[in-house]
Amino acid sequence: MSDSSRADFTGRTVVVTGASSGIGAAAARRFAALGATVAVVGRSHQKTGAVAAEIGAEAHLVDFGRLDDVRRLAGELLTRYPRIDVLANNAGGFFTSRKESADGHELTFQVNHLAPFLLTNLLLDRLTEAPNGSRVVNTASVEYRKGRLELDDLDRTRGRYRWRETYAAAKLATVVFTRELARRGQGTGVTASAFHPGSIASDVARDSTMMRAFMGSRLVKSMMATPEQGAEPLLRLAGTPDAAAVDGAYFDRLDREEPRNPQATDLAFAQRLWDRSAQLTGLAATAPG
Ligand SMILES: NC(=O)c1ccc[n+]([C@@H]2O[C@H](COP(=O)([O-])OP(=O)(O)OC[C@H]3O[C@@H](n4cnc5c(N)ncnc54)[C@H](OP(=O)(O)O)[C@@H]3O)[C@@H](O)[C@H]2O)c1
Repeated sequence: MSDSSRADFTGRTVVVTGASSGIGAAAARRFAALGATVAVVGRSHQKTGAVAAEIGAEAHLVDFGRLDDVRRLAGELLTRYPRIDVLANNAGGFFTSRKESADGHELTFQVNHLAPFLLTNLLLDRLTEAPNGSRVVNTASVEYRKGRLELDDLDRTRGRYRWRETYAAAKLATVVFTRELARRGQGTGVTASAFHPGSIASDVARDSTMMRAFMGSRLVKSMMATPEQGAEPLLRLAGTPDAAAVDGAYFDRLDREEPRNPQATDLAFAQRLWDRSAQLTGLAATAPG
């Protein structure tokens, strides 16, 4: 991937979810420094407001655990931003014990897949109108390689809850969604890519005391990359002059990877996951197919 991380974003609007901390906050700062109007989307009022104030941007609050709140956020963004050039679906994480969203879905799947799926669809018309084409950049994880999705049990009600498998499946959904969005977006000016940021010292393990202690140890931290480094693929994918070349692609950090999971390359599966996600989020499955 060429180094487009210094692209000029003047006049462009970039929506970054999960921008209150870690990779998203680093990306928001960088986009602002490159001239973009940044919509700083986060869940914590205090942290989101602090990042927004620091870069002279506006804060937008949302809880991805509530799909109604995602709908409200989409309305707020559409009212506030007459153009949206980049949507960075970056909010995410995992939970080491089973949790249910307000909508009755397994929370890891909702926060990492259903909520960004819904948000993207609700912003799609605005993204399509962007004068120079628009980019959707999704933060996945290398864990997707080990993921397995059951279309009749996306909420993983069968069997024991295993957080790692649950997270892997949710990030697999991110990769599959990215490819299907790219396919549906052909000819509309909307392109989509996904990436693994690397092992980043962030707050992603906040839900688990054990994981948090592990990731917080000085030794582990010294082996991890910074949020700024984690944000680099996002910046490059958002700013690359040749969006068609990365459309539908997955990057492991800065290296393009042909998806290493049979479900991630199955076109029929991608269409079925899209339709099922549209049902689960209350969207009619009417996007151009
Ligand atoms: N760190 C890594 O090594 C790593 C590796 C692979 C992939 N990733 C992915 O990278 C992305 C960013 O993670 P990070 O490492 O930067 O971790 P982080 O510092 O914990 O950031 C996660 C962001 O997601 C937001 N978020 C979490 N749950 C949310 C919810 N229910 N509703 C709305 N926003 C929510 C958080 O908002 P609040 O802080 O406001 O609650 C925060 O802004 C995630 O998708 C993660 O899965 C991280």
